[in-house]
Amino acid sequence: MLKIGVLASGRGSNFQAVADAVKGGRIKAEIALLITDRPYAYALERAREAGLEAFYLDPADFRSKDAYFRKIAEEFTAKGVGLVLLAGFMRIVRKPLLDAFPWRVMNIHPALLPSFPGLHGQRQAAGYGVKISGCTVHFVDEGMDTGPVIIQAAVPVRHDDTEDSLSERILECEHKIYPEAVKLFAEGRLEVSGKQVIVRGPVRNADALINPPIEEKR
Ligand code: GRF
Repeated sequence: MLKIGVLASGRGSNFQAVADAVKGGRIKAEIALLITDRPYAYALERAREAGLEAFYLDPADFRSKDAYFRKIAEEFTAKGVGLVLLAGFMRIVRKPLLDAFPWRVMNIHPALLPSFPGLHGQRQAAGYGVKISGCTVHFVDEGMDTGPVIIQAAVPVRHDDTEDSLSERILECEHKIYPEAVKLFAEGRLEVSGKQVIVRGPVRNADALINPPIEEKR
């Protein structure tokens, strides 16, 4: 069975969504280990509550960023991990981890990539005035939010949205598409071909990919 390793820095609601889907049997996999780069990441608390192994790994204890990611790769490899999930992990992943898990590191980003990469995807979208934003699950490469796209979900943007209101609407979709992408991976249905990810077979829950439109108040 597929073993999953997770990296998180904070709240961990996407980690929770995947853990719930695993626990409920929707994803045939096991979460083997969560590592955080912050000591008080709430994700650690969630892991403890779910009875999952988790610990904080202090980046300051390593000589270089590469050394930090080499250690993470070793920890995941020792657990037999076959898929690494970034779940609100606030660091650029370095080569030692990517080389150990080629096209086996996924990330969720709160915008429709390639629009609004980097930090504060929701703030950027609300500030720009786009009418549609959303979220993207993608494989991770060495760039910042540049890897091949697996699933996206579209979310309407209201003229009176704040960063918070838009973030909340996007987060609902994140919690649907991240488990869906992991499920597709666990079923062996994802194939990377250049910049494209080919999804074999029907994508179930396609209705989850577009949030219901919002009624405008006039
Ligand atoms: C999410 O918005 C995710 O898209 C971004 O960071 C946030 C993490 O939230 N990468 P959580 O820690 O999963 O609750």
